[in-house]
Amino acid sequence: MGIDFSQIAGRYERYSSVQKSAADILLGLLEIKDADDVLDLGCGAGNLTRKIKAMTKGRVVGIDPSEGMIKEAMGKNKDTNITFELKNAEEINYSDSFDVIFSNSAFQWFRDPKKTIERCYTALRKGGRIGIQAPAKKIYSPNFIEAVEKVEQDARTKSIFAHFRSPWFFMETPDEYGRLFEDKGFKVAFSKIECIKTNYTPGEVFQIFSSGAIAGYLNQDCYDTKINENYTDTFKKIVKDAFVKQANDEGKVELVFNRIFLIAVK
Ligand SMILES: C[S@@+](CC[C@H](N)C(=O)[O-])C[C@H]1O[C@@H](n2cnc3c(N)ncnc32)[C@H](O)[C@@H]1O
Repeated sequence: MGIDFSQIAGRYERYSSVQKSAADILLGLLEIKDADDVLDLGCGAGNLTRKIKAMTKGRVVGIDPSEGMIKEAMGKNKDTNITFELKNAEEINYSDSFDVIFSNSAFQWFRDPKKTIERCYTALRKGGRIGIQAPAKKIYSPNFIEAVEKVEQDARTKSIFAHFRSPWFFMETPDEYGRLFEDKGFKVAFSKIECIKTNYTPGEVFQIFSSGAIAGYLNQDCYDTKINENYTDTFKKIVKDAFVKQANDEGKVELVFNRIFLIAVK
């Protein structure tokens, strides 16, 4: 009875505005050339993979472990020659195959980031570059954390929420992220945590929450007890109400996100 990315896939492209705008910054930093072969790691519904394909005549491959996401990506990109593959980032097995690896809003989900970085190093050609954008710091979004704290405290949800185990990987500083890549042989060309603030209505903030974070907070695999429909419905209601309370007099919530932007070169 949980929610994972397969359930989100159909509405992902519509709801993922924060991932999209962060991706534009990452694409600006990566400067994809028109013959680059590119791997999109954690490609989701493939909307950014399509954007990348429009930048290069080279080979473009998207990988993601969510069946629903890969199905959506294949369905929406039939007329492009992008290859989509169902796999975890940890499982890639390419050697000297790509000029660029792009990974947007997915790194925090990787179960074994060190192994993934090692595999990425092998997958890239010499001089190839990897660009990562992902939520960073334990307080990756104070708005989301505050809303989920309400779930943690609410009598209707607190006993089940006590069984939640975060699936995410966050580091606190750009140097810590940089060292992960240097340890596997990369030279870090750019590493910065940006605090991005954007105004949205509470409803939009809930949609944004529903395009990513919910696939962890309401995923059965992240609980060591059974979660049921009553719990997921109440969880959503508490979080929605919390976003309404975060709105200012103009009815807008200032949504804050800490994001790591990192470029490393082989
Ligand atoms: C928020 S979506 C981002 C999708 C896309 N890159 C974008 O920015 O729109 C996160 C994606 O990471 C994928 N993901 C989760 N664990 C992963 C792993 N171990 N390896 C690769 N991708 C993973 C999820 O299935 C999901 O599609």
